[in-house]
Amino acid sequence: MKNVVEPLKYENGVLKLLDQRVLPLEEVYMTAKTIEDCFRAIQDMVVRGAPLIGFTGIWGLALFLKNNPKVVLPQFEQAAEYLKSARPTAVNLAYEIDRCVEMARSETHLSALYPKLVDHALAEMNNLYEKNLAMAKFAEVELQKIYGDRPLNVMTICNTGTLACGVLGTALGVIVHLNQQKKVKHVFASETRPYLQGSRLTSFELIKEGINHEIVVEGAASYLMKNKMVDAIFAGADRIVENGDTANKVGTSSLSIIAKHYGIPFFIVAPVSSFDLEMKTGDQIEIELRDPNEILKFKGAHIAHPEAKALNPSFDVTDHSCITAILCENGAINPVTPENVRNVAGQK
Ligand code: MRU
Repeated sequence: MKNVVEPLKYENGVLKLLDQRVLPLEEVYMTAKTIEDCFRAIQDMVVRGAPLIGFTGIWGLALFLKNNPKVVLPQFEQAAEYLKSARPTAVNLAYEIDRCVEMARSETHLSALYPKLVDHALAEMNNLYEKNLAMAKFAEVELQKIYGDRPLNVMTICNTGTLACGVLGTALGVIVHLNQQKKVKHVFASETRPYLQGSRLTSFELIKEGINHEIVVEGAASYLMKNKMVDAIFAGADRIVENGDTANKVGTSSLSIIAKHYGIPFFIVAPVSSFDLEMKTGDQIEIELRDPNEILKFKGAHIAHPEAKALNPSFDVTDHSCITAILCENGAINPVTPENVRNVAGQK
């Protein structure tokens, strides 16, 4: 299936990353030639979204081996730790990198690993399509139980589509799939301050898919739900821990609390690679604090007083008690209990 957009492509031996910082007005690719290029692309959000930063991590290690064919295991492990430190909250980065380290540990000569990592990176991205589709079908079943087959008004936050996953997408993948089944009436895409993943990226993907939608500010959530304009909410995840607490883009938690207040189903959609079952509760998750200038300035120009300060947590933790179900490729976790999380998502 052809993607509406290609955030990462490998052409004639060259890795190209779509610069998501300038979307949707410009579609510009940067070439990544080194592990440092991949590190900076993740940290500066040229690429973003939990699965895509995981894939970029694999490519970073592949490029490290390509450029340094004589490295030995401790140097490779050091490079892996460096790459993992690019962004702390999404577990997918550590998950993908740790798997590359395991592959390295079972090689006698690391020089043999470069082509294997290239194949692994390409396969991981291709495999995610089937997984995303499976989650979307599980979501459809959950919605069917509540609403039957009627077309729904849905809401989402951040960007969880092809730009975040390289393929279909998680929460946005559900919406695209439901739309193909003629089960979407309208989408509200939350603008997602301060980085505007909703207005810049999700709306861009919805336009490419021809899906009826409007962008709303985060503060409009209560208005929409009180006025019965939303039937269900879908969000992605950067890390889901054993009790079902879920880190996702800042603002997700308040959406879930408002949804619970108004009795609106709230779903998290994420692959098994986004689960971290070594953490018991969301209190253990490290929340990335980003540059205050993302809030204080817009395109380099001050929007607040030059002396103003800002606090910029990039994620928050949604409490498991506010989540109706978590959908992953293995099935639906409903109700969200530690036992169900372990049983459904315990098999990677
Ligand atoms: O800071 P970002 O843009 O990387 O944050 C992305 C999100 O929070 C997504 O919702 C999450 O990674 C899931 S992507 C399928």
